[in-house]
Amino acid sequence: PEKCDVPEAQRFDCYPERDTVVTPELCGARGCCFLQSSQGGPPWCFYPPDFPSYALTTLNRTDLGFLGVLTRTTKAHYPKDVLELQLQVDLETDFRLHIKLTDPNNPRYEVPLEVPNATKKAQNPLYSLDFSRDPFGILVKRRGSGVVLLNTTVAPLIFADQFLQISTLLPSEFLYGLGEHRRGFLHHLDWTTLSFWARDVPPTESYNLYGAHPFYLSLEEAGSAHGVFLLNSNAMEVVLQPAPALTWRTVGGILDFYVFLGPDPSSVVQQYQQVIGFPSMPPFWGLGFHLCRWGYGSSNETWQTVKNMRNYLIPQDAQWNDIDYMEGSRDFTVDPEHFSTLPQLVMDLHKHGQYYVLILDPAISSSQTPGSYAPYDEGLRKGIFINNTHGQPLIGEVWPGLTAFPDFSNLETHQWWLENLNAFHARIPFDGLWIDMNEPSNFKDGSVDGCTSGELDNPPYKPAVLGGTLFAKTICTSAKQSLSSHYNLHNLYGLMEAKASASALIAIRGKRPFVISRSTFPSQGRYSGHWLGDNRSEWKDMYWSIPGLLNFNLFGIPLVGADICGFSGSTTEELCTRWMQLGAFYPFARNHNTKGEKAQDPVAFSPMARTAMKEALMTRYALLPYLYTLFHHAHHWGDTVARPLFFEFPQDTNTYALDRQFLWGRNLLVTPVLESGVDSVTGYFPRGLWYDYYTGSSLQSQGERVKLAAPLDHINVHIREGAVIPTQKPDITSWMSSGNPLLLVVALSQEGMAWGDLFWDDGESLNTFERGNYSYVVFNVSQNIFTSTVLHSNVEVIYITVDGLTVYGIQKQPQVVTVNGQEIPFSYLENQVLSMSGLNLNLNRSFSIKWI
Ligand code: GLC
Repeated sequence: PEKCDVPEAQRFDCYPERDTVVTPELCGARGCCFLQSSQGGPPWCFYPPDFPSYALTTLNRTDLGFLGVLTRTTKAHYPKDVLELQLQVDLETDFRLHIKLTDPNNPRYEVPLEVPNATKKAQNPLYSLDFSRDPFGILVKRRGSGVVLLNTTVAPLIFADQFLQISTLLPSEFLYGLGEHRRGFLHHLDWTTLSFWARDVPPTESYNLYGAHPFYLSLEEAGSAHGVFLLNSNAMEVVLQPAPALTWRTVGGILDFYVFLGPDPSSVVQQYQQVIGFPSMPPFWGLGFHLCRWGYGSSNETWQTVKNMRNYLIPQDAQWNDIDYMEGSRDFTVDPEHFSTLPQLVMDLHKHGQYYVLILDPAISSSQTPGSYAPYDEGLRKGIFINNTHGQPLIGEVWPGLTAFPDFSNLETHQWWLENLNAFHARIPFDGLWIDMNEPSNFKDGSVDGCTSGELDNPPYKPAVLGGTLFAKTICTSAKQSLSSHYNLHNLYGLMEAKASASALIAIRGKRPFVISRSTFPSQGRYSGHWLGDNRSEWKDMYWSIPGLLNFNLFGIPLVGADICGFSGSTTEELCTRWMQLGAFYPFARNHNTKGEKAQDPVAFSPMARTAMKEALMTRYALLPYLYTLFHHAHHWGDTVARPLFFEFPQDTNTYALDRQFLWGRNLLVTPVLESGVDSVTGYFPRGLWYDYYTGSSLQSQGERVKLAAPLDHINVHIREGAVIPTQKPDITSWMSSGNPLLLVVALSQEGMAWGDLFWDDGESLNTFERGNYSYVVFNVSQNIFTSTVLHSNVEVIYITVDGLTVYGIQKQPQVVTVNGQEIPFSYLENQVLSMSGLNLNLNRSFSIKWI
């Protein structure tokens, strides 16, 4: 090509194949430019600006936007180019734009996700559109600022049967999301390729991990943000480069983009969830502390752990069992020898207001004597397993040995899953499900018989997935599922299993389902939470959990946590203490450990460590009303629970890269210690007044890094000025604490104002919000008057009293304090904290407290 004068940062890769060393000849054969540069830097073979692409040959207006035809006359370099494409652009809402490229002549696979159906064109969109005709490109601008959010003219569009690629410029280098990966929260646009293909592997930087979330959030100028979602479930790659620019590359389906205009980061995430669905409301107990390990030798050993926790009065809501409880690791069986007392253990948990969660792996043992293992026999009879290309159940290997894989894209399978769960529940009345190995994981690459030599198992372009093939450590992509090939559905396996599991739990228990899944896909939050998989008991793994939490909150799965104290490797007392403190602030808090490692539950440590862990959990339990209310906001609005600082301070560029601290909602800042051998921690405090959660001492920040004392028994938590935080006297289960009186903590703003709210219901019934079976109370402070206003009321709050009010930041000692006009005693401390107790006010009635 003649025009190869392209600045390095703007070179788009024309030869992404990693299995060939590109030569000038190979590159030239594709019609691309070859220029050698640094290793790991810009591509050596890149598209010239005049590389043939599609032309937009017609563009018509429609009720919702535009419909166009794209044609390509010169083939690109992958087999089965689709030479004619349909472009559909729908201006769905003022905040949301939908851009879809399809093959009008041959219908292709599309992700079976329910998405909103727009019926009216946006009246005042925040965006404007420009089309480039030849070569085709689309430009999306933010109307207000004129900032270009998308510009796809920078590289050719390619749309072949198994290779679809589109590139865009980005407005800044501030890019987030794109999971599941182990990376810092803020991406570096340094020629990184991120791959998306559900994979069972201990989280490692640059690998594709358990779930696939093709969604990013990008910051523009002055704190504006937008988001982009590619609704595609095929194996995918995203290339980040310093232009700043990004390339989407997928091996199937269609190009189906949603653009969300925000304009603030929180709104972007809300708008994303308006498309994929809001997360379900977890049961209240789901927010308590969960204890688990792989390697409890028996039900009695498990039971002993629970008893020890009770003896030391350490909060625990749920006890879990890993595959140890099964006979030969087979689903729906119980080891008759070592777990014979499991029913009694579960009964005992229930008697103490505690819950039981067990693991299920999707793969079903296929090698039992016919007639001896009903889940397989029945499954075969019903034809619910995934088939190989010969129409026989595909056989792989997981924990129980040879296995078949249920096809959750088939509703018959959901019925079979329900029947098995139901029968098992009659034996072991579990309360929640932990669905693991659902990428799906397979210890044999493909199947025991390998895979085919066809193009589904060996696509012409292989994305940068771990193992080099799409069937590495999973089933053949040629395998047949009822909705489509595994090639198309692989990334949806965990989502579909979660859906079947959540609805089975509803059918069986008639209450809110609690499901934690390893593999996830957009819209997963509607059915399950997620844990971050097989981390290690190392300090850096503890740090990595924070970007993990933040990402999954962006992905609409706020119920997320990492294995506290680390899964593999051996933890230390110091690490585990710090990790229990951080884990007390995971939206989903579970301590889990691998087999063969020594115990790491709180009771396993010295009295000092145990006490520190207990204290951290007590703090969590005290904050459950606040956390539960955050989950309500997530469920209702699509708000994040664990929140990056820049969501609240988008104007403060110092917050853009922070991922060693995070917020709970808008008001609580957690600054954990993430390294060994220290007794202090430095955190960033955005401009304003921050109060120590425990003491009320205030810290006035100009937007600066502050060094905080952090002895081993302390995790720093600060309240943002202007907040009212509802807390509750903690107890050893959430069931016990949920009946205790409330203590309201007020953190006054510099103007003497504060606001907060509380969502409260029975904690377990289905759709309480939708049915109106909840209470919603709003707290307000201005001009020295605190008011509690009941906006919606239901029976549960009648039993709740407000016992105390603590106000942080009262500069002058009050003379008189009154409750509903009646004078009451109070105390005032030197650090400007006013407090009163023994109030005994019914939460169900509005009240006011005044200080003069
Ligand atoms: C997988 C899970 C892990 C579990 C183990 C045994 O590695 O990620 O949490 O303990 O399997 O079931």
